[in-house]
Amino acid sequence: MRKKIVAGNWKMNNDAAQAEALIDAIINKKPDTSTKVVIAPPFVSLQAAVAQTRGTNIIVAAQNMHQAENGAYTGEISVNMLKGINVNTVILGHSERRAYFGETNALLAEKVNTALNHNLTVIFCFGEELADRQTGSHFEVVERQLREGLFHISESDWSNIVLAYEPVWAIGTGETASPEQAQEMHEFIRTLLRNNIGSKIAEDTSILYGGSVKPDNASEIFSKPDVDGGLIGGASLKADDFVGIIKGMA
Ligand code: PGA
Repeated sequence: MRKKIVAGNWKMNNDAAQAEALIDAIINKKPDTSTKVVIAPPFVSLQAAVAQTRGTNIIVAAQNMHQAENGAYTGEISVNMLKGINVNTVILGHSERRAYFGETNALLAEKVNTALNHNLTVIFCFGEELADRQTGSHFEVVERQLREGLFHISESDWSNIVLAYEPVWAIGTGETASPEQAQEMHEFIRTLLRNNIGSKIAEDTSILYGGSVKPDNASEIFSKPDVDGGLIGGASLKADDFVGIIKGMA
C-alpha cells in the first residue's frame, strides 16, 4: 500500500526563531494520523528542526542538495552533510530550482543518483508550465521530465522515491489544478510507471499534487484515487493551514 503524505516546502521563509515557533505549533495542533507529515525548512534550520521533532512522527527534509559528494563548490550542501544531522529526505527538481537555478533533467538525474546512493528518500518534483498546457503538450513534458530525470534508477531504489506533480502555473498563483486535472495527470503518471517500470512499483509509489493547495481545497484533491497527498508551499507556513490540509487527508 502506498503512503499518504503531506509535505510542507517552506522555501526561503522563516528564520531560526520563526522556524522553531512554527514547528512548535504544528506539533501541538497536528492530528494523530497515519498520514506521513514532512516539513522542509531552510538548510540553516534543519539541525534544530530534527532535534525539535524528535519523538514526533514529523519527518524533516532538505529542499535541495548538491550532486557531488564533496569538494570546491562554495555555498553548496552535500548528501553526507544532510545525513550527518539525520536528514534523510530531500526535495529535488522543484520548479523554482529548475527555473531560477538552471537545474536540468540531466543534472537532476545526477542529484537523484547521489541521494539514492546514500539511501535518502527523494521527493522528486516535476510539472508543466502554462504554455505547455495551453498547447496540449503537458503529458509529453511530464513524461520527458520523468524519463530523463528518474527512470534510469534501479528497481530497488523506487521504494525511496516520492513523486510530486506540480504544474508550474498553479504554484504560488492561487490557481489550483482542478481535482479532475490532477487526477488525469496522476493517472497518466501511474500508467507510465506501470508500462515502463512495473505494476508493483506503479501501485506502491506515492504521487503528491502541489500547487496552491489550501485547507479548503485539499480534501477534494486528496479524494482522487491517484492523488496520495500534497506538497504544500504557501499554506505550509501557517500552522493552522498546514494542519487543516493534513486533516483533509484523513
Ligand atoms: P504553493 O507551492 O502551495 O505555494 O503553490 C507549492 C510548491 O511550490 O511546492
